[in-house]
This record gives sequence, C-alpha cells and structure tokens, in this order.
Amino acid sequence: MTESIPHGGILVNRIDERYDYHSIEPFVELDQTGLSDLELIANGAYSPLTGFLGKKDYESVVTNLRLSTGEIWSIPITLPVTRDQEKRINVGEVIRLTYEGETYGVMELTEVYIPDQTIEALNVYRTNDAKHPGVKNVFKRGDRYLAGPVTLVKKHKKEQFTDYYLDPAKTREQFQELGWKTVVGFQTRNPVHRAHEYIQKSALETVDGLFLNPLVGETKSDDIPADVRMESYHVLLEYYYPKNRVFLAVFPASMRYAGPREAIFHALVRKNYGCTHFIVGRDHAGVGDYYGTYDAQEIFHQFTAEELGITPLFFEHSFFCRKCENMASTKTCPHGEEDRVILSGTKVRKLLRDGKTPPPEFSRPEVVQVLIEGVKVTI
Ligand code: ADX
Repeated sequence: MTESIPHGGILVNRIDERYDYHSIEPFVELDQTGLSDLELIANGAYSPLTGFLGKKDYESVVTNLRLSTGEIWSIPITLPVTRDQEKRINVGEVIRLTYEGETYGVMELTEVYIPDQTIEALNVYRTNDAKHPGVKNVFKRGDRYLAGPVTLVKKHKKEQFTDYYLDPAKTREQFQELGWKTVVGFQTRNPVHRAHEYIQKSALETVDGLFLNPLVGETKSDDIPADVRMESYHVLLEYYYPKNRVFLAVFPASMRYAGPREAIFHALVRKNYGCTHFIVGRDHAGVGDYYGTYDAQEIFHQFTAEELGITPLFFEHSFFCRKCENMASTKTCPHGEEDRVILSGTKVRKLLRDGKTPPPEFSRPEVVQVLIEGVKVTI
C-alpha cells in the first residue's frame, strides 16, 4: 500500500462541541472503555463506525468478522448496560452519555438488545474462560447492549501526556507535513524493548516513517502503567532513533487481549490514523497461552489486500543472539537456544518486581533506568 484511505472510504467525524444537550434528561453512565470507545468513534479512529453497534452489525462482526455492510471489522464495539440502567431509557429518545457524572456524548438510542455473550466470547476471544481478561470484561460490563449513532459533545480532559492525544485527521496531517508516503504503525502495551526496536527498525529500512502508537487506555493491572511507558519511549527515541523518522502519539483504546481479532482491529484503526503498513510480531495482543505464537498473523490471510487497505508486516519471534552479537530471529540466526536471550514483557515485569535489572541484551540501559524508577513508585 502506498496510500492510506480510511476504512470504509471516509474519515468519520462526529464531534460537535456546540451541541446543546442541557435539556436532555435520560442518560447512561459510561465506564472507562465506553468513554474511550465514544471518543474513538467520534474522532474517526473507528471509521466507518458512527455509533455503538446494533444487533445486525454485532452478530455479523461476531460471526463473520464483517459489518453487515461488508467491511472487515473484528471487535464488536458495544455499549453494555445492566437491566436496571436499561429500565430508565427508551428506544427512540436521545440520551446523554456521561462519565463520572459529566456529559461527554449523546446517542440516538435506536435499539436495545440482549447479546449471546458466550458466543461473543468464544468467537472473539476463542475462549469463554472467565480468567481471560477480555472475556471477564465481556461478562462484567452488562448484558443489555445499547445501539445508535453518537456525537461527542465534549472532549474529556486528559491529565497526562496531553500533547500526545491526536485525532486521526491530525496524525494524517502530520505524516503529510513530514513528507511520509509510507508509514508503519506499531502497537504496544509495553515499554519498547530490543525485540520491538529490532522489528521497528527492520520495517523502517523499507518505509518512510514509524508511527509509535502505544495503547494507553485500560490494561490489566499488572501491565506497566502508561506514564512509565511514555517516559521509556521518550528516552529511547532521544538516544536511539532518528528524530525525523518517528512520530509518537497515544492510542487511547482499552486493551481487549483478543489476540488475532485484535490484531486486525489494531491494523484497521492504524489505517484510519494514516498508516500504510502495520507490524504484527509474535503473539500480538495475546495474553497467557490462549493464542498460538503466529495466530495473529495467520488471521490476515482470510482477507484480500484490497479490503484490508493496510499492509501487515509480519515478524518472527526475535531475540538477542550472543554468537551473532545481534538481534535476530530463527529466520536469520543459525545458532541454538543456549545462545539466545529470550525475554518477554511478562518476564521483565517479574524481574523488575523482584528488584532485578533486565540485561542490556533485552532492554537499553536508559529504558531500564526509567522502568526501575517507575516500578519503585507503582509496584
Ligand atoms: S501487544 O499486546 O501490544 O501486542 P507488545 O507490546 O508486547 O504487546 O507487542 C507489540 C508488538 O511487538 C506486537 O506486534 C508483538 O507481536 C510484537 N512483539 C513483541 N515482542 C516480540 C518479539 N520478541 N519478537 C517479535 N515480535 C514481538
């Protein structure tokens, strides 16, 4: 791909900060995921969605990975409520969407439906094990889904890294200003370690720019907090990346841990932000042992390049090889397991918690320093 066209053809914009919502009484209170989904629908990151999914689209996404209009879509973006909340609102009315009591959006309530959440879990997460963090959320958030088009009437004030929340229209503008024709998106919920750096830089050898787009919405409580991660990205970019080839902005979505399905979702959303390419490494968006190492790559083969509209760049599990004295993968390194430094985000979190320093073959010393300081504060 050399041109990034928003998914579905047009970048959705449903932000209207002059909308007069003051006389609207009915409301539902959003959780953190609901608020972030509202913002991401409204700013076009979830184009072509214009609201929370109705039953027809929901069932189509759950069973066919497509909206009822045919576009690929892999994660159902729904607005769940409890039976009690549902009783206070009626189909046909406009309702306010609040967070911590404050109104951020309005929705034309077109439908309320009862989803089959077991099928949702089994299809989207490939398990209905309540220990899976994504599945747990599906069952926890409410068993009635509200649907209808939304308008964002107020932007939620961010307390941290405010300069790094950019709407897709803005990132697209920035890429153009930088003169980038091809841009590779990188999703992460971890500090950038050497394997990440290796695959990003391998991709950068062939495209114009890297869009480092860490997810900063809700994550599991044992993931490294977003503020510590952001600091780690700053030091890494400062010392190890050419300034004019990387653009950093945050992705304020919640993590679903849906592995393969979330990889497709992550790619489509980055297309909306203006990327032409997207990195998918090992066990993308996975958790525990729920997904095979390359399941999140294989799922892309179900679709044509045209309908995806963004080129996935697949990378093998990479590691530091002491004999090669370099980062490598089984595709490029002939040596054995005993020569390889293989660490995962999970193992690093454990080392940090135990007061141990991750080795330089795994993480740059400047990054390790930030993590040690951050972990002292947060764990
Ligand atoms: S994710 O949940 O956001 O996917 P993470 O931050 O660990 O988790 O990964 C970011 C990206 O880097 C994903 O595409 C993942 O597949 C890839 N990745 C992480 N570690 C490795 C590794 N050692 N080798 C190859 N790819 C990796």
